[in-house]
Amino acid sequence: MKGIVFNLLERCVSDAHGDDMWDDLLEAAGLDGAYTALGNYDDADLRALVGAAARRLGTDEAEIERWFGSTAMGHLAVRYPEIFAPHADLRSFLLALNDIIHPEVRRLYPGVDVPNFGMESESDRSLTLRYRSERQMCAFAVGLIQGAASHFGCPVRVEEPACRKRGADSCVLTCHFLKEEAHG
Ligand code: HEM
Repeated sequence: MKGIVFNLLERCVSDAHGDDMWDDLLEAAGLDGAYTALGNYDDADLRALVGAAARRLGTDEAEIERWFGSTAMGHLAVRYPEIFAPHADLRSFLLALNDIIHPEVRRLYPGVDVPNFGMESESDRSLTLRYRSERQMCAFAVGLIQGAASHFGCPVRVEEPACRKRGADSCVLTCHFLKEEAHG
């Protein structure tokens, strides 16, 4: 996992709970916290930090991942406006994920290991993303989608009818767009 992800987590945790909380999480996870954006770090470090945050904040790891994804997306939108600007709404943004957005992320962060999503569109009111990654970060994906929904002002309800953590062979994220895009 690239250091940028750890840098974003530090930013989100420190903004919401203060710098001391980040230091506490590093200590609980047994990590020194020296992450540079382009460096590569063990996925287990991120899991340890998410686990420490869940224990410390009295919630579960999926909730932390969703919160992190949603909050991180706001920071990504400020940092990479050119990635968001071509899209008028959430649906357009999600449809560009495999072919434009994550490939652009690969250019910015060589060696990054971004997931590929199967996309199925039943109607213009919904879109299903099929997520298959050894990292099993579907809750993070849901948070990112919700953060993008806030950015574009497009409310969404995300259902997860299948999840690898519940024994399925992939996670299925169905996004229901709650507003007619054409009418703003
Ligand atoms: C709603 C849109 C997006 C979704 C659902 C999404 C989903 C994900 C997920 C689930 C991961 C975790 C890695 C894995 O599962 O193997 C990931 C990694 C990543 N994504 Fe995205 N992403 C989105 C948009 C973006 C955007 C806009 C950016 C940057 C501007 C971005 C940058 C990254 C980076 C840097 C990683 C780390 C990969 C690594 O360290 O190897 N993503 N993404």
